[in-house]
Amino acid sequence: MGVKNIVVFASGSGSNFQAIIDAVEANSIDARITGLITNNSNIQAIDRASNAGIPSRVILPSQYSDSTAFGLAILDVLEEWKPDLIVLAGYMIKVPTNVTRRYRGRIINIHPALLPKYGGKGYYGERVHRAVLEAGEQESGCTVHYVDEDYDRGPIIDQKKVPVLPGDTPQTLAERVLHEEHQLLPQVIQQLLSKL
Ligand code: GRF
Repeated sequence: MGVKNIVVFASGSGSNFQAIIDAVEANSIDARITGLITNNSNIQAIDRASNAGIPSRVILPSQYSDSTAFGLAILDVLEEWKPDLIVLAGYMIKVPTNVTRRYRGRIINIHPALLPKYGGKGYYGERVHRAVLEAGEQESGCTVHYVDEDYDRGPIIDQKKVPVLPGDTPQTLAERVLHEEHQLLPQVIQQLLSKL
């Protein structure tokens, strides 16, 4: 059995990506990260990749005629990086269907709420936490789930809960949830890879 490959997709700061890098370096994930795919050339995730010696590729949907062509460009890069597991770690756009079909069961996402609540179109970033607070929820958390054609609707793999505290703002809640994301995501990755 050879070394397993992980490819990460990210669009932003990449703190979850960093948690995966750190877990690989600490040997708590038994795999290597063969590349980072982003849709934004100006993000911290790219610096994190280069600091860790991981190649990154910016693939902009606007440069392709449609979602299928965009997906084919992604598939080309994946062909090269040969992922056993694809991890969406704050990838803010929809993954084209030709990619999710090709990698079904091998592509996961982390979402900053307890799905199936507060997921789907429009629920991203601060909006998720604002909605949780406005609904008066007592708890929130994060979810790792398989990615299929439906936004945030694939089968749930694991969740971690956090309390909502009096005086929480979307920012304080986001921070508490993010801290748990950084624990949960590497754990789930290792668990899935060990079963492959
Ligand atoms: C995380 O909250 C993740 O759940 C969501 O986007 C955010 C990404 O944060 N999908 P980071 O880029 O990993 O810091």
